[in-house]
Amino acid sequence: MPSRIAVIGAGPCGLSQLHAFAQARLTGADIPELVCFEKQADWGGLWNYTWRTGLDEHGEPVHGSMYRYLWSNGPKECLEFADYSFDEHFGQPIPSFPPREVLYDYIVGRAKKGNLERYIRFSTVVRYVDYVEASDTFTVRVKDLQGDREYTEEFDYVIVCTGHFSVPKLPVFAGIEQFPGRLLHSHDFRDAREFAGKDLLVVGSSYSAEDIALQTYKYGAKSVTISYRTAPMGFDWPEGIKEVPLLTHLDGPTAHFKDGSQQLVDAIVFCVGYQHHFPFLADSLRLKAQNRLYPGALYKGIFWETNPKLMYLGMQDQFYTFSMFDVQAWYARDVVLGRIELPNETAIAHDMALWQQREAALQDAFEQIDFQKDYIVDLAQLVDYAPCDWEMTTDLFKAWEHDKEHSILGYRDKSFVSPCTGTKAPIHHTPWLEAMDDSMAGFLDKQPIQA
Ligand SMILES: Cc1cc2nc3c(=O)[nH]c(=O)nc-3n(C[C@H](O)[C@H](O)[C@H](O)COP(=O)(O)OP(=O)(O)OC[C@H]3O[C@@H](n4cnc5c(N)ncnc54)[C@H](O)[C@@H]3O)c2cc1C
Ligand SMILES: NC(=O)c1ccc[n+]([C@@H]2O[C@H](COP(=O)([O-])OP(=O)(O)OC[C@H]3O[C@@H](n4cnc5c(N)ncnc54)[C@H](OP(=O)(O)O)[C@@H]3O)[C@@H](O)[C@H]2O)c1
Repeated sequence: MPSRIAVIGAGPCGLSQLHAFAQARLTGADIPELVCFEKQADWGGLWNYTWRTGLDEHGEPVHGSMYRYLWSNGPKECLEFADYSFDEHFGQPIPSFPPREVLYDYIVGRAKKGNLERYIRFSTVVRYVDYVEASDTFTVRVKDLQGDREYTEEFDYVIVCTGHFSVPKLPVFAGIEQFPGRLLHSHDFRDAREFAGKDLLVVGSSYSAEDIALQTYKYGAKSVTISYRTAPMGFDWPEGIKEVPLLTHLDGPTAHFKDGSQQLVDAIVFCVGYQHHFPFLADSLRLKAQNRLYPGALYKGIFWETNPKLMYLGMQDQFYTFSMFDVQAWYARDVVLGRIELPNETAIAHDMALWQQREAALQDAFEQIDFQKDYIVDLAQLVDYAPCDWEMTTDLFKAWEHDKEHSILGYRDKSFVSPCTGTKAPIHHTPWLEAMDDSMAGFLDKQPIQA
């Protein structure tokens, strides 16, 4: 019997995994049967924008956390697929910080080229996965949402690619029940124009807080107050955005903060992060992790320590995204194909401990970038993923960090050089702050300015 692999999710990670196997097949490898279950009707994961919040048309929790007017928050050159460049996809150089629709088009462009839809069962949600010791297989119970039919199949490997930015964390603050305005988590944020003319409070101090503060400022919020728990982001914010310590309580519409200051607010967006949440996995298979660079219990950041036939992709906190998912997918594939042999339990535990100790000692974002690059290189050196100048990508990330320190409103107007093709990106025709049209047509429309 040929072995069977269940890939759960057809977002960037799931598509990387299908692509990795398809590439091996093209070069003559005998690959296992692949079945990818995707609960949405289309692929692309978070990049497949939905206006819905709460429950979807089938009563399933909405996966999407992306919003209108979302532009890449890192240079596209740092996430470029080494075997499918932006130049190849768009047929021309494009600027470094594209809006969501452009990146969506790029992700699905490679999937279409590889005819990957043949492996995917859309509108099919995975309900429960368990391991059966007697047969050394996994049972996967799914629901075909269109056909309203539940069924179970058996697989030799399971690869979890369901992401970890969809299920909100939500702390409670005293007085929240009586707050008269709108309360929402960033997962449910869709359109910055809703907050035009309003005094907004954003709780959190990471990427969602930063970007939602900037978005709402750009689209006309009267004021934005950002409340941090551990440390302020400390950017040179424009007039109209300020950072304050943690929210302590709400008194009607008045928010009170740890330093004794207060602010009248119309609405609050909680940008307090997401849970790694896998209700469809038996407890013994379920990753329980925080948003960190080396999540516990995963050897090489991929293999479930006590049963490596179960794999997870993309469970890390992410500087690197699409290219890192590719390298993980190549590595997972090569273990399945027997090209890479996993070491014994002692060596596995030792390797994981070394990475985790190193992570615990990281001091700042620059060291975190180097750490994630080293993690990728550790995997990449054993697989035949297309060559990529990983050292160069860390230089780009570090330059990007400096650009943000220099100008939080202007960093998206910078241009970077591709580590895959050497192409220098043009500058977008309109500065990000003035670019209200985030459509692909608008982005690619006019002649770009040479950098
Ligand atoms: C608001 C926001 C903005 C971001 N912006 C950027 C950015 O600018 N640049 C960048 O590089 N990264 C960004 N990211 C990071 C993002 O995590 C990655 O780009 C990428 O989407 C992760 O891919 P994934 O496949 O791991 O997960 P997802 O994209 O989350 O895809 C997971 C897929 O699994 C499916 N699924 C889930 N549960 C089940 C189930 N039980 N059964 C079947 N299918 C299931 C989902 O429907 C989904 O299609 C952003 C994240 C967020 C939340
Ligand atoms: N393209 C874009 O522009 C864009 C936009 C948004 C998000 N993203 C992506 O989305 C992903 C998730 O980012 P995220 O910012 O949502 O999550 P995150 O990076 O995990 O950050 C969570 C934030 O919530 C804070 N927090 C947690 N619990 C809290 C509490 N009880 N009270 C107050 N603050 C609390 C944390 O503060 P501490 O520091 O105190 O822990 C941290 O600042 C990232 O990969 C990011 O790149 C991208």
